[in-house]
Amino acid sequence: MNKIFEGKKALVIGGTGGIGLEIAKRLLFRGAEVCVHGAHKKNPAQIFGLPAESELEKKIELIEYDFKNHHFEDLENSVLIKKAESCDILCVCYGPFVQKSLDEMTFADWQTVSLLDYALPGVFVSAALKNMRQKNWGRILLFGGTGTDHRTEYRTNAAYAGAKCGVGILVQSTAAFYADSGITCNALLPGFTKTEYTAATDALLAKKMPLGTLVSSASVAESGMFLLENPDLNGVLLRVDRGWSPNAR
Ligand SMILES: NC(=O)c1ccc[n+]([C@@H]2O[C@H](COP(=O)([O-])OP(=O)(O)OC[C@H]3O[C@@H](n4cnc5c(N)ncnc54)[C@H](OP(=O)(O)O)[C@@H]3O)[C@@H](O)[C@H]2O)c1
Repeated sequence: MNKIFEGKKALVIGGTGGIGLEIAKRLLFRGAEVCVHGAHKKNPAQIFGLPAESELEKKIELIEYDFKNHHFEDLENSVLIKKAESCDILCVCYGPFVQKSLDEMTFADWQTVSLLDYALPGVFVSAALKNMRQKNWGRILLFGGTGTDHRTEYRTNAAYAGAKCGVGILVQSTAAFYADSGITCNALLPGFTKTEYTAATDALLAKKMPLGTLVSSASVAESGMFLLENPDLNGVLLRVDRGWSPNAR
C-alpha cells in the first residue's frame, strides 16, 4: 500500500460513517494519523474494521460532537477547531440534506443549511489555513451536493443547493489564493450515494440515477483520494454522478 500520507495529521469531520468513514479509512491506510469526528460514540477498531489494539488503531482518534446539540458559536473554542488548527489534511464531509421547497422552509431549516452546509466547511477551512500556510503544505477536501457545480433552479432543495454552490466558491478561492503555499482545495459532488444512513430512500433515489443504481460510498471515497493525492489538482469540483441530470428521468 502506498504510504503517501505518512507523518501527516488528517481531520475528517463526519468521518465516523458514510462517505467520510470511507475516506478516513483510506487516509489511515495511506499512512496518516486520523482524527475522525461524528455525532455518536463509536468504537474506532470496529468502524475501521481493524483488530482491537492493532498498531493502526493507535493512529485513530475519535471525537464526538453533535453540531445540532450545540450553538454554532460554541465551535470556536472547541477541540475540533483546535484539531483543525494543527491538521495537514482537512476533509469536511458532514453536510445535512434538507429537501423542502422554498415555501416550506422554516427558520430552523435555514439555520441548518446556512450554518451546517456552508459556514461549517468555511470555519474549518479558515481554522486550518494558517498552519498549512506555515508548513507550506496542506490538503483540503470539501463536499458539494449532486450537480451543484453550476447555478440552476431547484424545486425541492434550493436552500441546500445554494449552500453547496457556496462551497464551490470556498474551493475556488482557497485554490486560487493559497496554491503558492502548497495547499490544494477541491470538492466532491457525489450523485445519490448508498450509505448506512440512506436505506429509507435508496429505492426512490436509485431510479433517479443513470443505470438505476446508487453510487457506492467507496467509489466517491476513491475519487476523493484522487483529489487529495495529486498536488496538481486544485480548485476542482469533481462530479461523481455518472453524468446525472435532473431532466433526464
Ligand atoms: N449520500 C448522498 O447521496 C449525497 C449526495 C450528494 C452529496 N452528499 C454530500 O456528501 C457528504 C457526505 O454525506 P454522507 O451521505 O456520507 O452523510 P452525512 O450525514 O453528511 O455524514 C455522516 C457523518 O456525519 C456525522 N453526523 C451526522 N449528523 C451529525 C450531527 N448532527 N452532528 C455532527 N455530526 C453528524 C455522522 O456521525 P454519526 O455516524 O455518529 O451519526 C457521520 O460521521 C455531505 O456533505 C452530503 O451533503 C451526499
